[in-house]
Amino acid sequence: MDAAIPAHVPADRVVDFDIFNPPGVEEDYFAAWQALARPGGPGIVWTIANGGHWIATAGPIVRDLWADNRRLSSAVLAVTPGLGDVMRFIPLQQDPPVHQPFRMAVMKGFASRHIVALEPQVRAVARELVRDLAPLGQCEFTEQFAEILPLHIFLTLIDVPLEDRPRLRALGAQLTRPDGSMTVEQLRDAADAYLAPYIAERMAAPGEDLFSRILSEPVAGRPWTLDEAQRMCRNLLFGGLDTVVAAVGMAALHLARYPDDQAALRADPALIPDAADELLRRYPTVSVSRNLVEDVDVDGVTLNRGDIIYLPSLFHNLDATAFDAPDEVRFDRRLNATRHSTMGAGAHRCVGAGLARMEMIVFLEEWLAGIPSNRLDPAHPVRMKGGNVGACTRLPLRWD
Ligand code: HEM
Repeated sequence: MDAAIPAHVPADRVVDFDIFNPPGVEEDYFAAWQALARPGGPGIVWTIANGGHWIATAGPIVRDLWADNRRLSSAVLAVTPGLGDVMRFIPLQQDPPVHQPFRMAVMKGFASRHIVALEPQVRAVARELVRDLAPLGQCEFTEQFAEILPLHIFLTLIDVPLEDRPRLRALGAQLTRPDGSMTVEQLRDAADAYLAPYIAERMAAPGEDLFSRILSEPVAGRPWTLDEAQRMCRNLLFGGLDTVVAAVGMAALHLARYPDDQAALRADPALIPDAADELLRRYPTVSVSRNLVEDVDVDGVTLNRGDIIYLPSLFHNLDATAFDAPDEVRFDRRLNATRHSTMGAGAHRCVGAGLARMEMIVFLEEWLAGIPSNRLDPAHPVRMKGGNVGACTRLPLRWD
């Protein structure tokens, strides 16, 4: 849906760029986005697509605005009309100071001792998947690995039946890459209907699972209300479903394209934790939306109160002013993970970052140990999709 251009938007900033479907995204998500940022070009543009909104394209601007929780609000959630009003995620859509006590409770649920305790299960699932795939000599990585491991782990974490995986996978993809088959209300209701019995059970008699741990933490000295519990569980359900699938897929794609990198990691598995960080930096797939709560002057334009701005993490991570030779994967960069924007910046930085990193490390270890040197399948091209979380939708791999 194209919109009229507001008077405060200079004509030379106007583009027609659909964030859900940038030209060429099917072949290469990153190239499709990078075509929007010309060296020496504007650091912010206004797209007429999807109702009209700003997009920050210069790395430092993406980063600064992302961390600016005073002048920019997270309430809007997405450029998808109505999605934010319907989802009301906790803590993702809350602004400081309301955000802080809820976030603290959620963070306690993700404390590192729980992540460490989960690692053997992640490894067991990864090893089993690899063991089944190895003799086949080929796989469609997205469906046969990437979509299974993180979902399996998330379902284990919240202690719900593993058979629910396909149902929840479909819901996750609808949130981040909507195909128009469900309204946002239907999507919320489907998530709530799924979660309702578990929430009721965990509020009445908390167990050891993630939701129980979080709901047992008081928020600002009082218990969670049912409405808040639903909004938080909804947030975790959607936050944990699609993002790791995308990250693991991008890492597998990189390894298949660069056999020397596979060989280096096989020769020295001690490099894997740094490689995981670097692959997360090099292949950022999440973009967020913010709404302006006051007018902001930046990059020679005024963003008006009420405008929406879209912040793609790839424009920060792949900006040559932010990172040396950013397109190159260098396992010896040893960047502090908070330096890049894959997991966000500021008050909302991902609460699942430790879990995601552990899953990435275990994936790399088990994949490289169990699958011989692998490559892309020239007969079946890679396919990608855009959206608030970009991803490989098809990643055919072969090995001898
Ligand atoms: C590689 C995987 C992941 C990536 C790339 C990722 C990325 C992000 C980003 C960019 C944000 C900031 C959003 C914003 O500023 O508006 C975020 C926040 C969040 N993520 Fe993740 N995430 C990942 C994995 C996970 C997992 C596994 C979970 C939970 C199981 C999770 C739960 C959340 C939650 C609850 C927030 C909101 C935090 C807050 O608002 O304070 N994420 N994530």
